Amino acid sequence: MDLTDLADRALGEIAAASDVAALDVVRARYLGRKDGSLTQALRGLKDVPADERAALGAAANEAKARIETAIDERHALLRGAALARDLGGPAQDLSLPPRLIRLGRLHPISRTIREITKIFATMGFEAVEGPELEWDYYAFEALNIPADHPARDKFNTLWIESAAETALARTAAGGSAASERTPAVTQRMLLRPHTSPMQIRVMEERRPPVRVVVPGRCYRFEATDASHETVFFQYEGLAIDEQLTMADLKGVLYSFARQLFGGERKVRFRPDYFPFTEPSAEIAFDCFVCDGEGVTNDGRCRTCSGSGWIEAAGCGMVHPKALERVDYDPTRFQGFAFGGGVERLAMLLTGTPDIRLFHENDLRYLETV
Ligand code: PHE
Repeated sequence: MDLTDLADRALGEIAAASDVAALDVVRARYLGRKDGSLTQALRGLKDVPADERAALGAAANEAKARIETAIDERHALLRGAALARDLGGPAQDLSLPPRLIRLGRLHPISRTIREITKIFATMGFEAVEGPELEWDYYAFEALNIPADHPARDKFNTLWIESAAETALARTAAGGSAASERTPAVTQRMLLRPHTSPMQIRVMEERRPPVRVVVPGRCYRFEATDASHETVFFQYEGLAIDEQLTMADLKGVLYSFARQLFGGERKVRFRPDYFPFTEPSAEIAFDCFVCDGEGVTNDGRCRTCSGSGWIEAAGCGMVHPKALERVDYDPTRFQGFAFGGGVERLAMLLTGTPDIRLFHENDLRYLETV
């Protein structure tokens, strides 16, 4: 076949190729290594008589060059057009989908504290917080518990050793007689064993009427078991005004019990003793699981251990001496205080059988409550 015709036909097909794939087909047809038409023509040169071969070879090379150039140009054109089409189209989102963020949740203790403060807020109690590292004065002295008072035994206290005390101990170890020790340390610090010190702190800062609820961490030096931890939370309540009585205390705690546990919760008061309240009481709510019966369909009620009552807090009327200490006139102002354990309520609300489950921070448990 005439090589010029072959090249012309190839150029026509190249021009007609509408995309790169079609162009590749044309390329294979003419330049394909095995059976491209031009490749075969070039291969056939060896059978051509020697005197014609040079001219034919030149013509074949020229045809090949024309075809290759045309293919390259057409290729560039088609690529450019394809690119322009892609860029002109809608934007492609090449980003990876984000890793899923695991949503956290509030710890059951935090949830319970929020619930408690929310309920007391409905009765006008403002939530305040106080220091966990406390002076002996606020934790005991100002609450009518002087150094030699047996009520101190109730609080298994974690004392902070001050630099002054350490120095004293060294002097003693060095042989000086105990009687030579000067009472350098009149004020010791401790990790507060209850939130009651905040009764005094709040009264020092404010004038009546006072209505606060104080949630916070407390510490006691004691062995842990299913219902005791060395670190735990309490909520303290304090209300001071003219003409507050034990009836107000009852009413407030009634309302608290009903809002927290629902229904027609009953409140039981039994005499108790605290040096900073007079009279003092222990308050219990009738059990919200067995309705105070002590038994459920499964037998003895596990929530209240069959007693029908859930002990919730210590409480009483603020002692006149505490009022005097903060310059409140006890003939004009009275008030009540109460304090209970947060974990106790959280255990009841979440059905948690062991207080330690709250502090181990094992998500396998915490995610279920
Ligand atoms: N602070 C007391 C305790 O931890 C409880 C209490 C608070 C009692 C307020 C009376 C009034 O045992």
